[in-house]
Amino acid sequence: MRKEVAKTHAETSQQVALRLKEFINHNPGALVCLAAGDTPLSAYAALIEMQKNGEVDLSSAYYAGLDEWVGLGYENKGSCRQVMEDHFYRPAGIPQAHIHVFDGKAADQQEQAREMEAFIASHGEIQLTVLGIGLNGHVGFNEPQTPQAEGCLLVELDEVTRQVSAKYFDTPIPVEKGITLSLAQLGKAREILLMATGAKKREIVHRILNAPFTPEVPASMLTYEDKTTFYLDEAALGE
Ligand code: GLP
Repeated sequence: MRKEVAKTHAETSQQVALRLKEFINHNPGALVCLAAGDTPLSAYAALIEMQKNGEVDLSSAYYAGLDEWVGLGYENKGSCRQVMEDHFYRPAGIPQAHIHVFDGKAADQQEQAREMEAFIASHGEIQLTVLGIGLNGHVGFNEPQTPQAEGCLLVELDEVTRQVSAKYFDTPIPVEKGITLSLAQLGKAREILLMATGAKKREIVHRILNAPFTPEVPASMLTYEDKTTFYLDEAALGE
């Protein structure tokens, strides 16, 4: 795994946006998977600015959602769908036909998993993914105790994730389950951009850097030498 350490969150965001721009320009029609969460939003904003300057056509790519809180949909502020729709897909002008996300409100979540798997299969594989990291090391909703499996997974949320969820919602919403692309699915991507910024992530960053390929720290399972880049700011690295 390569490490890219920038001074600030803003600089890390710029680096990730630049890499995304390059990738999308060189791989028209590629399927990418972009995490919601707070960490990558400034990178997406920078990427949209690049499009405004004529540097990239974001509509040339296809987008698969990473995860969703089961029970939540676009109308819930803080759902992955709302975050990505309002911060990326809509301002970037991505046609609906180029986007497939989980519907956390659907009664049949297994069906949601199958539909996502079919969407990905129709594009071959995810080629590039941008991933944030939870305080417990999760990526998407692959929690430390989540069994390894292919495709998409329905997951019982970890206690840490349930507590952290409050930061996304206007009013408390009791969340118990998530639906997510599995580590196996994400690991098939040609390129993986892991992001962690801010002092709060320092401890988990150290665990990832010091113990690669440990199921207790799901992000560490994606620290491939040849295709993963870990984008950090100095606060997260703490050196
Ligand atoms: C959330 C989401 C992830 C996200 C991660 C980090 O719970 N399930 O997709 O990447 O945790 O979030 P943040 O960037 O807000 O720290």
